[in-house]
Amino acid sequence: MRIILLGGPGSGKGTQAKMLVEKLAIPQISTGDIFRAALKEGTPMGTKAKTYMDKGELVPDDVVIGVVEERLSKPDLDKGYMLDGFPRTLAQAKALDGILETQGKSISHAVLVDVPDEELVKRLSGRRTCRSSACGAMFHIMFNAPKKDGICDVCGSELYQRDDDNETTIRERLGVYNNQTSPLVEYYAAKGLLRKVQGVGPIEEIFSRIEKAIN
Ligand code: AP5
Ligand code: MG
Ligand code: ZN
Repeated sequence: MRIILLGGPGSGKGTQAKMLVEKLAIPQISTGDIFRAALKEGTPMGTKAKTYMDKGELVPDDVVIGVVEERLSKPDLDKGYMLDGFPRTLAQAKALDGILETQGKSISHAVLVDVPDEELVKRLSGRRTCRSSACGAMFHIMFNAPKKDGICDVCGSELYQRDDDNETTIRERLGVYNNQTSPLVEYYAAKGLLRKVQGVGPIEEIFSRIEKAIN
């Protein structure tokens, strides 16, 4: 199963992907996580990506496509994978089609986690993320609070607030999503791959909606 998770910043792609990883035993491929890990390792690609991420802008297509192409050539993807935060532009979607075509593979579903903008702002303003890149669990100070303040329930690492989770950058990311990424909804609908899931409500409920949508 090769699934694309579509949705605005804060719609719950990462949260749901982590649950689907458990259930389906296929890896999550998050371009945002790849860039944050590269930054932590201090690679030139990570440093370059950060200049865009801090402004809430998209990392240039050629960089992103190169990263994904490399990831999709790894041997751990036999059973499929979940793409979280990629593709984000029409150029990326078309590049993905090209990569899949040379591999003789195809996308099974593109799941849109649909959440209104004002809710997204609330979610991102209160998000806390686990420092450990191997874990990367997400919490929310009100909607999904960790058992112990500032500590990850899953692995015990420290929680932090992402640099791009401030009101100004959040608004910018929303604008970028609405202008550059939302056309992909139509793109995948035209291919008959779109599964729209209402993304407001308890996390577990949204998870079962996604499960139903991909079954
Ligand atoms: P990326 O890391 O992908 O960020 P994003 O798309 O902005 O999405 P988020 O990770 O912020 O949100 P999410 O949907 O994963 O939500 P989450 O589950 O955490 O990208 C960051 C940057 O990297 C981009 O701005 C860009 O610069 C660059 N980049 C990445 N990919 C790129 C690409 N392909 N092309 C170009 N540039 C790229 O949940 C959010 C919060 O809500 C959490 O606190 C969570 O606990 C809470 N929550 C989750 N579900 C619920 C619920 N049902 N009810 C209440 N709260 C909930
Ligand atoms: Mg995410
Ligand atoms: Zn953790």
